[in-house]
Amino acid sequence: MNNKGVHIRTFGCQMNVRDSEVICGLLKKEGYKIVDEPKKADILIFNTCSVRQHAEEKIWSALGKLRVHSLAKPTIGLIGCMAQNYKEKIFERAPNVDFVIGPSDIAKIPEMISRFTVHGSRLSQSGNKRTPNTEHRTPSAELFERKIWETDGDIRPEEIYHTGFYEDKNHAYVVISEGCSNFCSYCVVPYVRGPLHNRNHKDILKEIEGAVEQGITRITLLGQNVSAYKDNQVGFVELVKLVELVKGLEEFSFITSHPKDTSAELFKAMRDRGKLKKYLHLPVQSGSDRILQLMNRGYTRKFYLGLIDNYRKVVKNGVLTTDIIVGFPGETEDDFKDTYNLVKEVQFDAAYIFKYSPRPNTQAEKLGDGVPKNEKESRHALILELQKKISKSKKC
Ligand code: SAH
Ligand code: SF4
Ligand code: F3S
Repeated sequence: MNNKGVHIRTFGCQMNVRDSEVICGLLKKEGYKIVDEPKKADILIFNTCSVRQHAEEKIWSALGKLRVHSLAKPTIGLIGCMAQNYKEKIFERAPNVDFVIGPSDIAKIPEMISRFTVHGSRLSQSGNKRTPNTEHRTPSAELFERKIWETDGDIRPEEIYHTGFYEDKNHAYVVISEGCSNFCSYCVVPYVRGPLHNRNHKDILKEIEGAVEQGITRITLLGQNVSAYKDNQVGFVELVKLVELVKGLEEFSFITSHPKDTSAELFKAMRDRGKLKKYLHLPVQSGSDRILQLMNRGYTRKFYLGLIDNYRKVVKNGVLTTDIIVGFPGETEDDFKDTYNLVKEVQFDAAYIFKYSPRPNTQAEKLGDGVPKNEKESRHALILELQKKISKSKKC
């Protein structure tokens, strides 16, 4: 028993929520205590998101505040998508961070932390610390001497998903695929999460059965693009049919689907499988064909509308939500109108509307950030207002 307290603050999407649980599960196995207050923590971990600049700013700011307020400084780790995006550069901007670990390396976290905590000191002198290969000691070399970073992992070991730790007693997030190979031109996810990797369907079912044995009755299947799931003969629709058969499971759903891989077969499964929730989150991103092409989304407005039409015919009273980006580089007034009119036409139950944010390494970054800030804000406000009215009318 080492009895050290760990607190994890999670930012970003459900993938990160699940990753934080996985890490808690691994740490508990090593005897760490999970504490709900940062003040009580010996080790404080930030599980971060890079999807938009604003998401990153929230994390830089949280790290900055910590520097001001903490007297007895805990060991601080920054993990997740920002860790992969900035790697060891994190230490230059946030010198109070002690370790940086990317999403593909989370299995190594307990061992990493132990290097900071053996013999009660923050860093084991015999630890495998890394120092940049510089002949002259610069301030930066000194800074790096007490740091650890790990960002070159590959596929996660399957065991990490089987610690049996879930935050919620009734509901579990179950990862079916990691990473993404779609390379939508605006999106950082393929760069920070790596290529699409599908878990073996038998492992997924084993995890679900284990969760159900613990008393969990509801499951959400997770992936950046669940509809592209494929494990030899088992595609997403087949997986859904197998999950339905798990005894004791009462209800399940999935996020997120990509329109280009979503099929009528899936809608039929939603209609016919009693446990599968009639809920579809199908991000459209834009209503303009020109912008959809620049975004590398792989479908047209007409295709998307056809898909929705089919969904509504097959899945009676099915809920439909979406994501939209306004202000993509080169989005004209007419392109925006196409999106606005699509929202009006489709009548989503809910829509998450984002202002375009240029992301490092992406194809769209090369296009600049041409739509002025105030224009992005007014387009954002217009769709938000429209969607609010639609959502309200649907609830009546
Ligand atoms: N894999 C999912 C979700 C990815 S991130 C999918 O493909 O739908 C969640 C949402 O963030 C995206 O759907 C998109 O609307 C938004 N987003 C991603 N990158 C963005 C960027 N650079 N600027 C603004 N919004 C972005
Ligand atoms: Fe990003 Fe596109 Fe992959 Fe979604 S499908 S994670 S938006 S690259
Ligand atoms: Fe953010 Fe990473 Fe999820 S960038 S949206 S936490 S996959």
